[in-house]
Amino acid sequence: MTAIRWGILGSGNIARKFASDLRYVENAKLVAVGSRHRSTADAFAAEFKVRHKHNTYEALAENAEVDVIYIASPHAMHHAHTLMCLERKKAVLCEKALAINSKQVKEMIDLARKEKVFLMEALWTKFLPHYQKLQEILKEGILGEIKSFLVNFGFIPNIPVPQRLFDPALGGGTMLDIGIYNVFMALSVLGRPDDIEATMTPAITGIDEQCAVLFKYKNGALAQLFSSYTSNLATEADICGNKGRIRLTHRFYEPGTTIEFYPGRVDSKQVLTVPKEPGHGYHYEARHVGECLRMGLTESPVMRFADSLLLMETLDRIRKMAGIRYAEDN
Ligand SMILES: NC(=O)c1ccc[n+]([C@@H]2O[C@H](COP(=O)([O-])OP(=O)(O)OC[C@H]3O[C@@H](n4cnc5c(N)ncnc54)[C@H](OP(=O)(O)O)[C@@H]3O)[C@@H](O)[C@H]2O)c1
Repeated sequence: MTAIRWGILGSGNIARKFASDLRYVENAKLVAVGSRHRSTADAFAAEFKVRHKHNTYEALAENAEVDVIYIASPHAMHHAHTLMCLERKKAVLCEKALAINSKQVKEMIDLARKEKVFLMEALWTKFLPHYQKLQEILKEGILGEIKSFLVNFGFIPNIPVPQRLFDPALGGGTMLDIGIYNVFMALSVLGRPDDIEATMTPAITGIDEQCAVLFKYKNGALAQLFSSYTSNLATEADICGNKGRIRLTHRFYEPGTTIEFYPGRVDSKQVLTVPKEPGHGYHYEARHVGECLRMGLTESPVMRFADSLLLMETLDRIRKMAGIRYAEDN
């Protein structure tokens, strides 16, 4: 089997973790990196033994030896960087949030369809074993009817604070960065909300440094979602039905979480084990992309265009309610 040849756009925090995890993907090879500067491209290439080092993103996208590009720039650049790669017929795995708003997401999907090139949002949680296990549990119906979902994601950023977290020009704010995981889980458990309430606390830069969201459903179910850059919260999720409760322990979106099942009373805990592989957990989505490309697919059957669109449309609705705006919304 020929190896899938990966290129990485950007050389920051997540680019490094993804590069490190590619070694756990069978028949995958990291062959190129694109950075805005020669020095950072060289440093990344030396660290991960990458053959092609480009000091522009365009040069990376034009490299004929690259099959697929992992976009690891800040969210505000995802739209432009994805379009640039798709126009050059390069398959794309783009970090979350896929873009700033659903208008941009639609344009990205339209271009992938037009060029018949693969595009997927790197919503890595969807490919993790514990998430798959959770889906099985929900399908079996052992929790009964789900009536409430509670989820928190909050941390105080380490100093020096990464610029992209608070800078509106980079898509800063909790909702698109970490609240997106809360929304993704709520959609997975309860589906599209019938009604949304949301409020936020603005940081000095105007972005949301905290956001509280309520999803309401016609069957009476409620989901409560909280994201914060000002509090170190237990980043956990509780899914509660009339026959039991599941708790995903800190951090609910990562492979390190544990699934606790409380069939009845609060003190009757069972721990459901899931297999864990070495690595940060980004190899699961990378493996899936490789499988899609080998099958000649241009859309993932797991993280579909409709999934990314629903996620972003829900984020749009929340931002509208809470008053979180970016220049891209104008
Ligand atoms: N899935 C996950 O678990 C996860 C975790 C963290 C972040 N993310 C996502 O990954 C993306 C990047 O986050 P990160 O934490 O890796 O950010 P980061 O450390 O700041 O790195 C972002 C990289 O993007 C490139 N870039 C291009 N234009 C830029 C600009 N105007 N300002 C700053 N950087 C620019 C830079 O690479 P060059 O200098 O090499 O060009 C930079 O190193 C975000 O969308 C975030 O939501 C996902």
